[in-house]
Amino acid sequence: METISIQSSSGRSRILVGERLENLQQYLPAAKPIIITDVNVGKLYPLDSLAAEVITIGTGEKIKTLDTVRDIYGSLLSCAADRSAFIVGIGGGIVCDITGFVASTFMRGVRFGFVATTLLAQVDASIGGKNGVNFKGYKNIVGLFHQPEFVLCDPELLKTLPQKEISCGLAEIVKHAAIADAELFAYLEQHKEDALALDRRVLEKLVQASVCIKASMVSRDETEAGERRRLNFGHTFGHAIEKVTGISHGEAVSRGMVVAAALSVKKGLLTSEEDRRLRTLLNNLNLPTGLGLETKSVFDAIGKDKKREGNWLHFVLLNGIGSAIVDKITVEELEDIIHG
Ligand SMILES: NC(=O)c1ccc[n+]([C@@H]2O[C@H](COP(=O)([O-])OP(=O)(O)OC[C@H]3O[C@@H](n4cnc5c(N)ncnc54)[C@H](O)[C@@H]3O)[C@@H](O)[C@H]2O)c1
Repeated sequence: METISIQSSSGRSRILVGERLENLQQYLPAAKPIIITDVNVGKLYPLDSLAAEVITIGTGEKIKTLDTVRDIYGSLLSCAADRSAFIVGIGGGIVCDITGFVASTFMRGVRFGFVATTLLAQVDASIGGKNGVNFKGYKNIVGLFHQPEFVLCDPELLKTLPQKEISCGLAEIVKHAAIADAELFAYLEQHKEDALALDRRVLEKLVQASVCIKASMVSRDETEAGERRRLNFGHTFGHAIEKVTGISHGEAVSRGMVVAAALSVKKGLLTSEEDRRLRTLLNNLNLPTGLGLETKSVFDAIGKDKKREGNWLHFVLLNGIGSAIVDKITVEELEDIIHG
């Protein structure tokens, strides 16, 4: 097991890569914990041995709302949770985002941690302390920064993931490699089949390297005032595509990265060969790279991106594979480049 730390304004967050779910108890305070999980994870991994209160929520982006948050507050009151409560979110990115928000706001904040059960959550969603929900078509628009005390990443849990969810997690690993680590990118190109087959050695290297990239950026810029913005590579378009088409987050990010790479080529920052490598890698990982989308609705959705400042968008471009910059562009400029 490897422990990677994030030092934040709210304390230290430990990411335990390779730790087993069976050992969760040792990270919990003595009092009875409260677990938030979703119906799928709850069925696959019964948590009876933990003697915890369990709150089970539904699945899918559509439940990442204030209504679900309100229901959970109700359940917390019903089980007499007080300020000493410790909440553990056990699930994918949706459970983590909701649990972090609930725990950070209930009684002005109680302690919490995560067991990340999807590859996407292990390498991205559970790490960095962004907690929040969607509201009126705006993705993650209501939320706050607050770090979990720990994130447990058990590779065994990934064995029950559908193949599509593995590809979605690999999309975020491609993102981390593309913006910060050319060697990791090349490693993924070489070991794509092993990664898809969840080869333990390859997967551990990918998860660890990915977590290290995200953790170091978050440690230097917790509230996304600068460097952390690079982690949004592929996400401006990705979030819009996700909203308009309803495809999953990882697939949408894959398409968003293709758009951002094409813009990077047009701006002379990325070579056509590097652009081709990115698209080939995503295709080889069974991720979508075509746009095939309703462009007008996507641009409407981009107008609702929370990273927009007035008419300006902070757009992440690749400055070669393994390096990224944040450029300020207008929505119109983006439309021109896409259609031009
Ligand atoms: N907070 C952040 O920094 C951050 C970063 C990236 C993504 N996100 C968010 O994460 C969400 C996407 O997360 P996700 O891709 O993990 O989706 P998800 O949470 O919906 O999980 C995907 C599916 O896999 C199932 N599942 C979970 N663990 C499983 C397991 N071990 N075996 C079998 N099935 C399992 C879930 O029930 C669900 O049906 C999006 O809402 C996105 O906005 C947040």
